[in-house]
This record gives sequence, structure tokens and C-alpha cells, in this order.
Amino acid sequence: MSGSRRPDIRPEGGPAGQIQKIQAPRGTQDVLPEAAAAFAVVEATARRILEPAGFQRIETPTFEATDLFARGVGEATDIVQKEMYTFDDAGGRSITLRPEGTAPVCRAYVEHGMQKLPQPVKLWYLSSFYRYEKPQAGRFRQFWQVGVEAIGSADPAVDAEAIALQDALLRELGAREVRLRIGSLGTPQTRAEYRERLQAHLRDNVDRLSAEVAARIELNPLRAFDADDAGTREVMATAPLLLDSLAGEDREHFDEVCALLDAADVAYAIDPTLVRGLDYYARTVFEFSSDVLGAQSALGGGGRYDGLVELIGGPPTPGVGWASGIERMLLARDTPAAVATEVDLFVVFDDGLRQDAFTIVARARQAGRAAQMELAGRSIKGQLKHASRTGARFVAVLRQDGTVLQDTETNDEIPVEGGADGVVAAVLRHMGPGSL
Ligand code: HAM
Repeated sequence: MSGSRRPDIRPEGGPAGQIQKIQAPRGTQDVLPEAAAAFAVVEATARRILEPAGFQRIETPTFEATDLFARGVGEATDIVQKEMYTFDDAGGRSITLRPEGTAPVCRAYVEHGMQKLPQPVKLWYLSSFYRYEKPQAGRFRQFWQVGVEAIGSADPAVDAEAIALQDALLRELGAREVRLRIGSLGTPQTRAEYRERLQAHLRDNVDRLSAEVAARIELNPLRAFDADDAGTREVMATAPLLLDSLAGEDREHFDEVCALLDAADVAYAIDPTLVRGLDYYARTVFEFSSDVLGAQSALGGGGRYDGLVELIGGPPTPGVGWASGIERMLLARDTPAAVATEVDLFVVFDDGLRQDAFTIVARARQAGRAAQMELAGRSIKGQLKHASRTGARFVAVLRQDGTVLQDTETNDEIPVEGGADGVVAAVLRHMGPGSL
């Protein structure tokens, strides 16, 4: 951070004085107006679905102490090993741009003593996240998620409710060809026993595994289920499955989550090999994907993380949640018709009448109407053309010798008296009071 280098802004070997264009960093994108409108729809839809179900909005900082993710997400995960944007700030603290939202929300839960509130505490967020991944279609280095966390109850109904809400969000947004897979990882003990059996199976077949999988037998054997190469896939076809070794309360919990999803008519497939990229999961895990997305098919996913709050310094507390990738949800839906901004009044004016135009626009806005005026010094002809481009319902034409209001629906020309107030009053007479 400190002692920052001054970049050379001339292209290498380029002529002196030629300034190099600056582009958005690789893997990031500008949310241009059309996409911003789509984002707004996602936000409104999420709010409409989640808040009546008792979820309240939370936003945590964009960056956190690195240790939060190292401990929370897990040292062995790809995220922590190679995808974090980590730097020392000017005070020498190790800081990381948040790669995900669950650990930060759990940190906030502990920090603000939310365990004293009625449980579960149900929170939702819509935020940007940062992972140093290889950019490709649907995969970015800065991306957006909408997510929920329900902290403080181990009841399987919390899992099923969360899943049903994610299903509703995807449905409501029109994501196509959505599939839901669900599994259970059991408790850490079940997993530890299972892990040993899986490692034994991998070691017995090590010569058929890809080099990457073979190198990670000790660190992260579960990731072998994710591998694409034929050799590893063959080995995994006969691997022991964690779901088969679920017992006692873990089994009951999973069966109840499935029964509740059935009761709510949420369609799902049980996938005993479902692997998630974060270490904090225990018991329920799930992922929604869309077949229209290609390689990056995961629309969203989540699960239960009963040990996480304790891991980051809080009391033993169960929790469950999910996050959906906003860019991917938008890619997975049919392109909706663009929604045009409605303009009630556009003000066109002769030289010298800018202030009158400005007053009309200000008064029309005060009256709750969408008003715009000429801002680029066009001729009257050019202004009228631009007014028509905006689709304005009324066009006020201010000339030195008087003002007329054109009704673009009926083509009537309404003469107006009484300056700015007269124009606004005439618009309101035709359109009624505004609601902006
Ligand atoms: P995740 O599976 O890592 O889970 O991310 C959730 C979703 O975010 C993915 O399914 C995908 O749609 C989107 N996503 C992830 N990485 C990228 C990327 N590089 N570019 C574009 N989209 C991406 C979590 O983050 C957990 N915190 C979810 C959770 C909440 N679990 C419990 N509570």
C-alpha cells in the first residue's frame, strides 16, 4: 500500500505524450444502465420474497481481517489457497476483500451479541464479492451475490425454508432449466471417519488419478468428486459415499429436510457426491444449477454450517444459508424487454430561456412528475427530435414570443399562460398529480 509506485502511463515503446487508455481490471465489469435495471429487479424480487419470510437486510464491510476467511472458509479450500485478494493496509494489518458472505455475517452476529435475540436470526444481503479466479463466461473476479443466513437453530425446517426461498427467487426471476441437488455431509465426526475411508480408496487407486487429485489426497480428498478427467471419474464411480454412512441424528435431520421439501413441492435430486467449495459445511448442502449456463452452471448454493460461529470465536451456534450469483441468475433467464424510463415532460427552449426551462423542470419534479430539459445546446429542431427520442408525453416549447405545450399522444397544442407554474399546472390537469 504505502510507497506505491507511479505507473508509467505511456504504452511501451509508444510515442511520448500518447496517453494509454485505462481499462477495468481483468475479471471485473461495469454494471451499465441496462444491467443496473436488471440488478434492481433482482433486489426488489429478493426483498419481496425474503422480508415477508422474516429475513432482514444486513451489509457487512467489503474487506475483513484475513484471519476471518482463513479460519472460517478453511485453509485447505481453493478460495483461501489461491483466490483471495489479500494485502497489508497502511497500518500493517492483513486485510482481505470478502470472497464470500457467510463468515462476515457470522462475525457480525457474534460481534453484535445477536445470540441474545430470538433465534434464529434471519438475515439477507446483496453485495459484491472478490475471488482471484480465471475469468470466463459467468465467472468474474468481482461478482454479486444475493444471500441469506439463518443463525441460531438446528431445526431442519430452517434448512428447508431457506432452500424453498432460494427456489422461489430463481423461479420468480425466470431462470431456465433449474435443477436442485441436495446432500448431507453429516457432522465433523462422521466426516472424519468417512474421509479416512475415502483416502484409503484414493490411495489404493492412486495411479489412475489425475496428478492434481493425487496431490490433494491428504489435504482435500472430497474434491476428487469434482474432477473432470476420465481416470479419476472411474475411480470415483466405486468410491464409498458419505451419504451412505450417515447415521442417527444426521440421517434423521437429512430425511426431515427432504420430507419438508416434498411438503412444500420443491423438486430436488439427492446427490451423494455433492461437493461445496467451502469447509464450514456440516449436514445439509445444496446447489441450484442451470443447464443453459455452460461450464459455470452453479446458480447458487449453500448449506448448514453448525461449527462456524464457534470457529470464529462465538458460542456454539448452528446456522444455515445460501447465496445466488446475480450475474449467473440474469444469464440464465430469458432476456426481458427493456424497460424504458417514463418521461412526463420535456422542456425545449429558445436561446436565453434556459433559466425558465430549469424552473419548469424543478417545479414539475416537485409536483411528482418525471421532467427533463435540453442539456446539450441543440437547435430547436434538434431539441424537438431529442424530446421525441425520450418518449416524453408532453413537450413544452419555450419561445421568446410565448409557450406552448404539445401533447404527444393527441398532437394537440395547448397554449400556456403564467410562466413555469402555468406549464406545470397544464401538465397536471392532463395527467393528474404525480407520484415520484
Ligand atoms: P458459493 O457456492 O461459493 O457459496 O457461491 C455462491 C454462488 O455465487 C455460486 O453458485 C455462483 O452463482 C456465484 N459465484 C461464485 N463465484 C463466482 C464468480 N467467480 N463469478 C461469478 N459468480 C460466482 C458461497 O459463497 C457461500 N457463502 C454460500 C452460503 C451462504 N453458504 C451458506 N450461506
